[in-house]
Amino acid sequence: RSSTRRGQTKWTSIIMVLMSFWSSSSAQFRYSVLEEAPEGTIVGNIGKDLGLDNTMRRERGMRIVYGSKEPPFIVKQDDGVLYVNGKIDREEICERRKDCLIDLKLVLQNPLEINHVIVEIVDVNDNSPIFQQKENILDVSESALPGAKFQLQAARDADSGLLSVQQYRLSQNRHFRLDVKDRGEDRKTPSLVLEKPLDRESVKSHVLLLTALDGGKPPKSGNMTIVVNVSDANDNPPVFSQESYTVSLKENSPVGTTVIQVSATDLDEGSNGQVEYSFGNDVDAQVRERFNINRETGVIVVSGTIDFEECSRYEIDVQASDKGTATLNTETSVIINIVDLNDNEPEVEVTSFSQALPEDSKPGTTVALISVKDADSGLNGKVMCYINPDIPFLLTPSENMYAVVTKSRLDREMMAQYDVTISAKDEGEPPFSSEKTMKVVVSDVNDNVPEFVLSPYTFYITENNNPGASVFSVKAYDQDDGDNALISYHILREKGSHDTLTSFLNINAETGSILALKSFDFETLKTFQFQVVATDSGTPSLSSNGSMNIQIHILDVNDNVPVFSSDAYSVTLRENSPLGTTVVQVNATDLDDGTNGEVIYSLGKSTNQLALNIFDINPITGDITVKGLIDYEERDKYEIEIEASDKGIAPLTTEKSVNIKIID
Ligand SMILES: *[C@@H]1O[C@H](CO)[C@@H](O)[C@H](O)[C@H]1NC(C)=O
Ligand SMILES: *[C@@H]1O[C@H](CO)[C@@H](O)[C@H](O)[C@H]1NC(C)=O
Ligand SMILES: *[C@@H]1O[C@H](CO)[C@@H](O)[C@H](O)[C@H]1NC(C)=O
Ligand SMILES: *[C@@H]1O[C@H](CO)[C@@H](O)[C@H](O)[C@H]1NC(C)=O
Repeated sequence: RSSTRRGQTKWTSIIMVLMSFWSSSSAQFRYSVLEEAPEGTIVGNIGKDLGLDNTMRRERGMRIVYGSKEPPFIVKQDDGVLYVNGKIDREEICERRKDCLIDLKLVLQNPLEINHVIVEIVDVNDNSPIFQQKENILDVSESALPGAKFQLQAARDADSGLLSVQQYRLSQNRHFRLDVKDRGEDRKTPSLVLEKPLDRESVKSHVLLLTALDGGKPPKSGNMTIVVNVSDANDNPPVFSQESYTVSLKENSPVGTTVIQVSATDLDEGSNGQVEYSFGNDVDAQVRERFNINRETGVIVVSGTIDFEECSRYEIDVQASDKGTATLNTETSVIINIVDLNDNEPEVEVTSFSQALPEDSKPGTTVALISVKDADSGLNGKVMCYINPDIPFLLTPSENMYAVVTKSRLDREMMAQYDVTISAKDEGEPPFSSEKTMKVVVSDVNDNVPEFVLSPYTFYITENNNPGASVFSVKAYDQDDGDNALISYHILREKGSHDTLTSFLNINAETGSILALKSFDFETLKTFQFQVVATDSGTPSLSSNGSMNIQIHILDVNDNVPVFSSDAYSVTLRENSPLGTTVVQVNATDLDDGTNGEVIYSLGKSTNQLALNIFDINPITGDITVKGLIDYEERDKYEIEIEASDKGIAPLTTEKSVNIKIID
């Protein structure tokens, strides 16, 4: 027997044993039929193969026995042909055995003859490879290294042998290849092998098609979609939107002013892709005092005083970090250019050359150096200087500085001190200006001669002055200063006639007070003049021009009594002389001056009453005249007392007798 069937029931085995006993000489026939062949398909002409003609078949009868089951074949009596009768499902009958043989018995009666008929069910590729899941989702980290292997589910194919799954194919892709492990007996296990690293950031998931092919002709296939879901690894650092940031910021911007917003993105996912901002570790405290960065938004704001003069440019390292467990950082620099505002006044610095400037300095003499500074830059720091124009000074520029020089001659006596105001103004918009005033003291030069207050002087001295007393004083002024104005006086004594007079005079050199060493007598000397010189103490000293004439007038005092010109007056007069007849004219003179020397005449009180009735005197002319009857018989002589008085405040009077003899 060429073939046995494995797995046959015990019962069938027994029958087979019996049959083989009965027909040891029986023949064996072999046919084949395709599985799934339709009902009525001819399998083989058994009758003919057995050599039975029509009559023999009818006589002996033919039956197919297939164990206890209804066989899927039938043999027809009239033609002896074996037909398919019912569905032949190889997979049902043989499962997945390689050879699928149906052992049938063809029974002939009279005599009993049992023939073996083996029908091979030829497999037809009627099953496709099938994956249990239509789709397989694989999670693969992007950090997976090439060579990593991911086992896949194998496809099943109900067909057997060559018609079962023979190969796998993977759709074209750049990252994976297929590795198929053959475990024998139609069991092939496919795996994905990573060839090139994955990058979630470029492709989040890969869709692959796994095709299983059987060995049919043509082959049947089964497909499974493999979705490789690439899971994130923190493999991307944050990336700033710009390589570096440059921004301008006005100085004095208030706290809170937004300077710039930096922004970085991280291609990673979740916390691996969440970015936060901070200043780099190198950023020093000075910068941190002035700027803050918002961790979340990347907005940089002003947090302190921004002063261009202190710092005109900041370069700040800004760091973006993701929140992955192994943090990745990126740095960029933010350059903040501070824009200058005109917020600084120009500063004027004065370096004086000397304490005081001699008044005879030549025009062009440098008095002081001026330096100007302005902490601002550009036009804001460009400074021009001005000086008040109505003073005798000029500003001349000289290497980054200005010199204050004299413009014309100075005269301390006109102006002893100048307030020189230097104003500086920058060219900012609006401009800032400042001023500095320096004092220029003009020092004295002995360029003024002493001058007397009055010239010439006329003084009046009352005669009979006390010798040694100060009688008057002179005063000279000198417009200079200090010693140059310190005056001493002296009397100019020339050899000559005046000497005698001036020797009576002494002058106090310091005060100009003049002393008379003797008493003057008006009646002796009424007027004289002399000269005084005033000299200053400068080096060299200057004296008043020439000398000054002083005219002295001696003033009269009523110190002289009137003096009659005659010692005694004796006259004669005829009796009965008419009224008005001049008897005599008396004459007194007074040496004093003015009213002190004006004499008036009167009849003295001691004069006899009788005489008073007869005579009169003219007070001005001194004419004694008749005013009554003169009678010789009554009286032959008269004596009258005449008084001559001056008109001084305390008048002085002299008496004189006039003897008049009457002639009969
Ligand atoms: C499997 O995919 C391949 C390629 O796209 C296709 O040719 C084939 O028909 C598919 N098979 C099935 C059963 O869908
Ligand atoms: C891939 O994985 C992520 C997270 O693990 C999930 O949210 C997403 O739905 C997955 N994608 C697919 C196509 O399965
Ligand atoms: C002093 O002398 C000068 C020249 O010698 C003359 O010009 C000036 O007027 C004089 N001054 C007086 C006060 O006499
Ligand atoms: C008085 O005497 C003086 C001096 O002798 C003389 O000058 C004067 O004229 C006389 N007066 C009269 C009024 O005669």
